[in-house]
Amino acid sequence: MLKNSSWITYPKKEEYSCPVFKREFKINGEIKKATLKITSLGCYYATINNERIGDFILAPGWTFYKRAQMQTYDITSQLKEENEIRVTLSQGWFNGRINIRTRMELPDMRPSLICEIELTYKDGKKEYIRTDRDWECALSKITFSDIYDGEYYDSNYTEKFVPVKVEDYTDFKIVKQQGEIIREQEVIFPQSIFKTPKNETVIDFGQNMTGYFEIELDAKKGERVSLSVAEVLDKDGNFYTENYRSAKAKFEYICCDGHQVYKPKLCFWGFRYIRVDEFPCEITESNIKAIVLHSDIKRTGYLDSSNPLLNKLFSNIIWGQKGNFLDVPTDCPQRDERLGWTGDAQVFVRTASYNYNVEKFFDKWLEDLRLEQKREGLIPFCVPQVHERPGSSTAAWSDAATVCPYQIYLTYGNTKILKRQFKSMRDYVDEIGRITKEKYLWYGCWHFGDWLGLDAPAGSYKGSSNPDIIATIFYAYSVSLVVKAGKVLGKNVAKYEKLYEKILEKGRKTFTEFNTQTECAIALYFDFATDKKAVADKLSTMITENGKKLKTGFVGTPYLLHALSQNGYTELAYDLLLQEEFPSWLYSVKQGATTIWEHWDGMNDKGEFWSKDMNSFNHYGYGSVADWVYGVACGIQTDESKPGFEHIIIAPQPTDKIDRLSASIDTVRGLVASKWYHKDGKIRYEITTPVNATIVIDGVTFEVEKGSYIF
Ligand code: BGC
Repeated sequence: MLKNSSWITYPKKEEYSCPVFKREFKINGEIKKATLKITSLGCYYATINNERIGDFILAPGWTFYKRAQMQTYDITSQLKEENEIRVTLSQGWFNGRINIRTRMELPDMRPSLICEIELTYKDGKKEYIRTDRDWECALSKITFSDIYDGEYYDSNYTEKFVPVKVEDYTDFKIVKQQGEIIREQEVIFPQSIFKTPKNETVIDFGQNMTGYFEIELDAKKGERVSLSVAEVLDKDGNFYTENYRSAKAKFEYICCDGHQVYKPKLCFWGFRYIRVDEFPCEITESNIKAIVLHSDIKRTGYLDSSNPLLNKLFSNIIWGQKGNFLDVPTDCPQRDERLGWTGDAQVFVRTASYNYNVEKFFDKWLEDLRLEQKREGLIPFCVPQVHERPGSSTAAWSDAATVCPYQIYLTYGNTKILKRQFKSMRDYVDEIGRITKEKYLWYGCWHFGDWLGLDAPAGSYKGSSNPDIIATIFYAYSVSLVVKAGKVLGKNVAKYEKLYEKILEKGRKTFTEFNTQTECAIALYFDFATDKKAVADKLSTMITENGKKLKTGFVGTPYLLHALSQNGYTELAYDLLLQEEFPSWLYSVKQGATTIWEHWDGMNDKGEFWSKDMNSFNHYGYGSVADWVYGVACGIQTDESKPGFEHIIIAPQPTDKIDRLSASIDTVRGLVASKWYHKDGKIRYEITTPVNATIVIDGVTFEVEKGSYIF
């Protein structure tokens, strides 16, 4: 692709500056169609005759750095007789501060552009304008840009154009746009503008989000706008940025004369509050609005209940997904991370696939995961891998290699992705077999463990669950997914079936006791425990003795309620879901959360922070509880034998603790909805299915055709 165009760069390496490339061209006749094919290393912002081309923000997105997605735009209506195309580039994800790996491996690299305009004239003649020596470039008015540190723009800067440097890259593959594009999704207006106790002017948008802002003002040439962002205020009501760690997350703008409107072009922030460090006038609501960015995924899932706190939790889960589905499933959008942590994606993928249609989004990310996988099968901590070294395969993180493709298959019935990923799935479990210190277990290796579990020893992020138990259970789970995927694809998986049996046999002999909430939850959920009743009773006792509160971290939390409801403890699962005291989902809601927190104890009830080091207020992981609400409380389940909701099982498990609960998913087969509510001492169920379904109400099974039913 783009075979006849050349990669071009600004001739000198100027860190964090944004070169702009331009080319003028004339049209010699009547145009039938004009298209632009373009990609870059670093993010691009392109205009033709001063008008933006397309609406892909932060194009071309973020991929495994050896491939770049190419976009095609129809620019016919933007052309005049004399034209000028301009493309501004930032280091972006390619080699900004976020990507330690490319900064180490490719120290001389600069943001680079390649494109081609194809002009088709009405008489059939074609003409091409391609990146080559004829282009010019200059440092642009965006004088600084870095994903972590923000963007600076000087309206008065005069660009000095020089000839471009033509590069001879052979290492970067240009591929068609594979994922969803990032778009501006909604506008949020300030809820209030106030002075903090420190006398700083702060704007509250009322919602923690990912995106940027647009300013509109009258000013004199040289006056400045300087803004900082934050997710929360501290206990005294002051602006708090320490949890951004080294990310400066600033916006600076030098005004021209007169009326002006500006929004950043190559950057994004995670924020709810903006501190006005400098502004030419007293800022008012009419001077600023926030713009929410995320991948253009379509919303498909809705949850609603009679409990306002629960509804806020549902909203926070959606915002957690919006905030972190920015081309790559990221851990958080604000601090100096914002990375495609595999574990986070793995725990959330099922919920994600019900809330939104993420088929295309994961198609692209999983392709990168596959490409990033090392020859031995190792799955790096993050995809795309940005660390200097990939780390080692780690339980519940690297399992994204098996869990994510299989879930995408279950939700959308997509066998293409499963087929493409199958080798990667297999290579990954084979790799575990090589690195373990004990055959048929995953034993003696380094792991993140039950990350952020509340039973962590002092000073540690790792919950006290035994990492070897977690790893062995995930090993068995991943092997079981290889077997299932293999069978779907008609492969011979006898070797993996045997391996699965062996892991279970040896694992069960080795690990006979489960002593933490997480150990019990995963031993139950993944059918590892042999005496399920005893383990479930133990789990219930541990939770009850802990005041009906959880202690689980990243690994245990997604399965905790499932483990309870599958083993006769549905009411206790509801107690956890509806718990309002710390630690719980609704605790953060009562603390004013508008997204999902990274930590159960991100902020205590005195408004103090648990730490400044690892304290994101926009981390979607614990939002995975939504899949229990969709799948158990409202009972909408995919039928593994007929994936993609070709047949649906709907088995709601209501409670007296909520008056009403409903879930709906706009599946690839149509809308499935399940609602129950209490009426006149009875429970009334309203169910809609787009296909044949098995409905289970109070233990009684009904086989129904597509339609709406009341029980
Ligand atoms: C991230 C996590 C991630 C973890 C790995 C953190 O810094 O924010 O969400 O999974 O590191 O343990």
